[in-house]
Amino acid sequence: MSAVQPYQIFQNMPQLETGRLLLRRLVSSDVKDLFEVASEPEVTRYITWETHRNLDDTRRFIQVVHDWYERQEVLYWGVVRKSDLKLIGTCGIFEWVVRDARAELSYTLGQPYWGQGYATEIAGALIRFGFEVLQLNRLEGRCLRENVSSAHVMEKARLSLDGILRQQLYLKGAYRDLKVYSLLRQEWLNLASLNRQSPF
Ligand SMILES: CC(C)(COP(=O)(O)OP(=O)(O)OC[C@H]1O[C@@H](n2cnc3c(N)ncnc32)[C@H](O)[C@@H]1OP(=O)(O)O)[C@@H](O)C(=O)NCCC(=O)NCCS
Repeated sequence: MSAVQPYQIFQNMPQLETGRLLLRRLVSSDVKDLFEVASEPEVTRYITWETHRNLDDTRRFIQVVHDWYERQEVLYWGVVRKSDLKLIGTCGIFEWVVRDARAELSYTLGQPYWGQGYATEIAGALIRFGFEVLQLNRLEGRCLRENVSSAHVMEKARLSLDGILRQQLYLKGAYRDLKVYSLLRQEWLNLASLNRQSPF
């Protein structure tokens, strides 16, 4: 099987769909909805983003994402609720290394949308995309030790804990432990055959 190359994916970045959500490219008109998400300190508490102070911070963030698209670096989507087309968060696939067939998934939702299973839906879509389209062998997820909700999402999506990188990051005034989770292609295939279909 010849490896999928980033230019094949980025030249026409796919939109993904779940039961309730559309994952699509982030566009400049997302600025207001995205600001609502990123200006909430609870949302940015355990992630590398600084809390956005104004719409200009969010415009700069969207520009960074467009630079990622341009450089074919990060597959990054706006998470849009199908029922009203409201942007409620973002997600992405980072650190895609073709040679090793591995990448890392990430997701962030506005606080009003927590606890409704959306992140589980997003993780399922990213996992399916990672194994089926990017032909990954290993999909990783990383979160700070104190980010209980993110760890739950990964466990629910059947990622296993590889270990904890102690004081791996200096973030928001302290050295932080990072939990590393992963799902391997063979594990995903086993889950799929157990469920006799895609497990997510
Ligand atoms: C992490 C985050 C995406 C979770 O999103 P979510 O949509 O609330 O997650 P889900 O509703 O799919 O929940 C998945 C599971 O985790 C559990 N869970 C969620 N938050 C939890 C918490 N704080 N404590 C314990 N369990 C929690 C849910 O109960 C659910 O399990 P269940 O279905 O068995 O009940 C969301 O909290 C968020 O955006 N946080 C800020 C950004 C962030 O930290 N991103 C992750 C970076 S690594």
